[in-house]
Amino acid sequence: MTEDIKAFQARLNEAIGQINFDRQPKELYEPLAYTLELGGKRMRPILAIMAYLIKKKDWEKIITPALSIELFHNFTLIHDDIMDEAPLRRGKETVYKKWNKDIAILSGDALMIMAYDLLLEAEYEDIRYILRLFNRCAIEVCEGQQLDMNFEDLPTVSEEEYINMIKLKTAVLLGFSLELGGLLSGMTQKEAKHLREFGVNIGIGFQLKDDILDVYGDAAKFGKQVGGDIIANKKTFLLLKAIEKADGATFEELNTWLAKDDFDPKEKVAAVKEIYAKLDIQTIAEQKMNHYFDLGFQQLYGLDQKGLNLAPLKAFTQALIERDH
Ligand code: IPE
Ligand code: IPE
Ligand code: MG
Ligand code: MG
Ligand code: MG
Repeated sequence: MTEDIKAFQARLNEAIGQINFDRQPKELYEPLAYTLELGGKRMRPILAIMAYLIKKKDWEKIITPALSIELFHNFTLIHDDIMDEAPLRRGKETVYKKWNKDIAILSGDALMIMAYDLLLEAEYEDIRYILRLFNRCAIEVCEGQQLDMNFEDLPTVSEEEYINMIKLKTAVLLGFSLELGGLLSGMTQKEAKHLREFGVNIGIGFQLKDDILDVYGDAAKFGKQVGGDIIANKKTFLLLKAIEKADGATFEELNTWLAKDDFDPKEKVAAVKEIYAKLDIQTIAEQKMNHYFDLGFQQLYGLDQKGLNLAPLKAFTQALIERDH
């Protein structure tokens, strides 16, 4: 099982290595080679491969379309790090820090266009169907990212608003990865939609886990600045629940930290973590994450009934729940 994942990762990395980034102007292309070669889990293209494997075996055919999703994902990360003022990504300086914001914007744009180019290579009789799905997903990611930024300045948001925001910014791309793999393997559009729903639910679980790791992750493994969400007043599930559950002096203290413009980041992270501990926020967040992974697994029921090859996808998804980075 893990052997297979390693083989997929190696093949994807090889395909990335074959993209020619040695082009001019170098300011545009160097950040792309830098970002893509830093690694990452390659989870979205692996999900596309796994979806493909449900019906077919010749996974070489899905590599180029799967890669297009990885390129798109990396484009979103380059821009996301500007918006989140994040210093670290995959254990290295973010593109906008290492170069500058203009370069990060433009090289991100170029990467998105390269992603579309690769997706056009997909062998499917109705390529417009696939492009429409991708476009819908891409615009939803923009909507989610805007909501994420809007929420930073609100005192709080409801759980429903939060789930909708992470569904858009993160989960729909996992959904599309799976739907694409399914469609290219010859699944019906209806079957592929079930896979998309599975992807959206586990995508929500995945972002909940990302929010948890942002507070409790080991910086060396996580590769991002731990506590970044607390520093930026991100309306993560953890913060929402803390605002909802805190009362009296704890509520006052939390609000004081949220209102401060001038603070020592380490001190703020430690203080908010202490409040989370008092309110048992980590457990509540993990329960919510498990709930969405369970909902995802329920979506596979119909495909399971047909006796299809779902075991690799299920095992890989289980590993996402347990991941530490
Ligand atoms: C990070 O995605 C962005 C989120 C949606 C949380 P990943 O955690 O998949 O990042 P990499 O590609 O493995 O670095
Ligand atoms: C990322 O959400 C979503 C997208 C990049 C579209 P986050 O801002 O939580 O992702 P990280 O934690 O920076 O990877
Ligand atoms: Mg963000
Ligand atoms: Mg971010
Ligand atoms: Mg995050």
